[in-house]
Amino acid sequence: PRSVTRGADGALAVAGLSVRDIATEFGTPVYVLDEADLRSRCRDFRAAFPTEDVYYAGKAFLCRAVVRMIAEEGLHLDVCTGGELATALSAGMPPERIGFHGNNKSVAELGRALDAGVGRIIVDSFTEIDRLTALARERGVRPRVLVRVTVGVEAHTHEFIATAHEDQKFGFSLAGGAAANAAFKILDEGVLELRGLHSHIGSQIFDASGFEVSARRVLALQAQIRDARGVELPELDLGGGFGIAYTTQDDPATPQDLAKRLRKIVDSECAAENLAVPHLSIEPGRAIVGPAVFTLYEVGTVKDLDGIRTYVSVDGGMSDNIRTALYDASYSATLASRASGAQPMLARVVGKHCESGDIVVKDEFLPADVQPGDLVAVPGTGAYCRSMASNYNHVPRPPVIAVRDGQARLIVRRETEDDLLALDVG
Ligand code: LLP
Repeated sequence: PRSVTRGADGALAVAGLSVRDIATEFGTPVYVLDEADLRSRCRDFRAAFPTEDVYYAGKAFLCRAVVRMIAEEGLHLDVCTGGELATALSAGMPPERIGFHGNNKSVAELGRALDAGVGRIIVDSFTEIDRLTALARERGVRPRVLVRVTVGVEAHTHEFIATAHEDQKFGFSLAGGAAANAAFKILDEGVLELRGLHSHIGSQIFDASGFEVSARRVLALQAQIRDARGVELPELDLGGGFGIAYTTQDDPATPQDLAKRLRKIVDSECAAENLAVPHLSIEPGRAIVGPAVFTLYEVGTVKDLDGIRTYVSVDGGMSDNIRTALYDASYSATLASRASGAQPMLARVVGKHCESGDIVVKDEFLPADVQPGDLVAVPGTGAYCRSMASNYNHVPRPPVIAVRDGQARLIVRRETEDDLLALDVG
């Protein structure tokens, strides 16, 4: 996070608050959110996309306090389950600023979204169109929808590959004609209000050309719809997926750069197709919350495998950060509770779970005198860590605290063993 400094005692401090004090007050592991950092990332996106809408993708991390922060900063919110919707509504997110995603929204979830009056629903299948149409008829409402288009751009971390076949569960295929048919069906039935098209090409993307190809393709479909039905759709959502720096090797684009590139391609494509430029929106999750959080752990054991590496075990692991095990993700770690002049040694930061894949940071140089009781910080854990946390090995999930101006407040409390036992019946 942006407001991390090293204090006179050598310990890291966030917004002026020492990690030692955080560990004493809240215990470890703990996710530490730098509130000013999160808010400044929201502002950077708002400033870069002032006339567009920025939907924060709540799947990255959602709790009531964060809903309030992003709402105050003028963002919209993308939810993709009834649980995320409930969280958003209970925090007072204006329903018209909520977009509802998902490839298998249930009748109950869609009904709740309609009753709440969410601003838009991104439809993902013909089944869903029928389901939503029936629910809308019952209620006598006309929900606003976007059609999620599978544009055939497969985005990987550092490249994209344009593919003709689109073998994945999300959206309506562009190449196969399903996307056009979905739009025609909605327009012809006239029950749902078709506002536009939507495309999301992947996550942790650094190469903006994937977004350009995708924008070009959805706008060509937009022109096709205009030619066939005489309707110009007023909105276009280009999804999220903007990469962040997990290690010093990553070099993400700024929101300003992204905005410039996206606008340029949309403008030139609209000019080429003779289309009015639609109202744009984007859905960043990771880029808003990822860098604003670090996880603070306490070291429990240090095991030196002579000549290979040193295993530094911390008091969490794959239950609070599954990304290393699941995606082979790269993180870094820093000795946080003190300064050390010791030689760097090659370490692997591992958790306390019962499998050898329980790795938090694969390779890191830590001072050779790292020892039990030291605090270690792993930055960049705001996105898809707490939100994908589990209770594997009956480990209670860690709390989330928000630090601002030297003050910490608990925004998600630590689970207890009683919480875990409360689900056991009998
Ligand atoms: N919009 C849609 C429709 C999405 O499916 C996603 C992410 C986003 C926006 C936000 O993407 P972001 O800006 O956060 O990259 N668990 C994985 C990431 C899964 C992303 C799923 N969809 C991870 O930990 O890397």
